[in-house]
Amino acid sequence: MDRKYTALVLAFLVAAADANSINLKSQPTSKLLEAGRNWGDLGQTANVNDYVDNTIEMLVPFIQKHGLDPMELPDVIEGFEVRPLLITYSAWLKIHDGYMTGLVNVARSSDQQVNYFAKMLRVRVQLQFSNLEFVYKYLVKVMNIGPTGGIIASLSRFVVIVDILLDFNNDEIQLQQFRLTDLGRLRVRFTGNILTDWLVNPVLNTFLRIFDTIIIKIVEINIRNAVQAEIDNINASVKEVIKAIEAYN
Ligand SMILES: *[C@@H]1O[C@H](CO)[C@@H](O)[C@H](O)[C@H]1NC(C)=O
Repeated sequence: MDRKYTALVLAFLVAAADANSINLKSQPTSKLLEAGRNWGDLGQTANVNDYVDNTIEMLVPFIQKHGLDPMELPDVIEGFEVRPLLITYSAWLKIHDGYMTGLVNVARSSDQQVNYFAKMLRVRVQLQFSNLEFVYKYLVKVMNIGPTGGIIASLSRFVVIVDILLDFNNDEIQLQQFRLTDLGRLRVRFTGNILTDWLVNPVLNTFLRIFDTIIIKIVEINIRNAVQAEIDNINASVKEVIKAIEAYN
């Protein structure tokens, strides 16, 4: 996100939390003071759904700039066992040349909340990504055969929750929480050569295990790193940004 946009977002969010502009539920100040610094459900809460809906396409260049769509995925080799008749054989599956697409299919997920209390602004953004596709090539080694082909896995959706705290007491911004959650339905199909009957399920199960334990974790880490890098950037210049906003107002 470029700096101008960042400034606009922050300016808007501050305005949203400070002025009684949009759906603002504000509580009497004395009560707030009594409540001390526990500002979770207290303070001022703004619902910024419309704002998020109108600016969400700003995320697309961000996603592309950070190489998140398409997102390169690592090669993985995983052993498994097959038992075509009476004998158990050890085998391995190698998946390679993998990438994910679809992160640009982003939409708001549920209500987006902004809380403002004690000169701290907490922004919790929940985004849904849909129609993600994971594309890999594979190689199986078992006994003396080595079938190869492609794997295409389609995931209907996942949700990313980003919780950011902007502290105007020291003009610092930091990532409070990042989570990839709410995985939708995953469909896997093989392309290229047809796998022998007794290999299909073991290979499929091995891929699913790799998906759950490695691939989706890598996707989460890559998105988190991009968000963290962007927040570090904003944090480094937040003092100037705030000065600019104040000058603008
Ligand atoms: C934000 O930037 C300041 C310097 O401007 C630095 O001292 C501080 O550690 C940074 N905070 C985070 C959470 O990165």
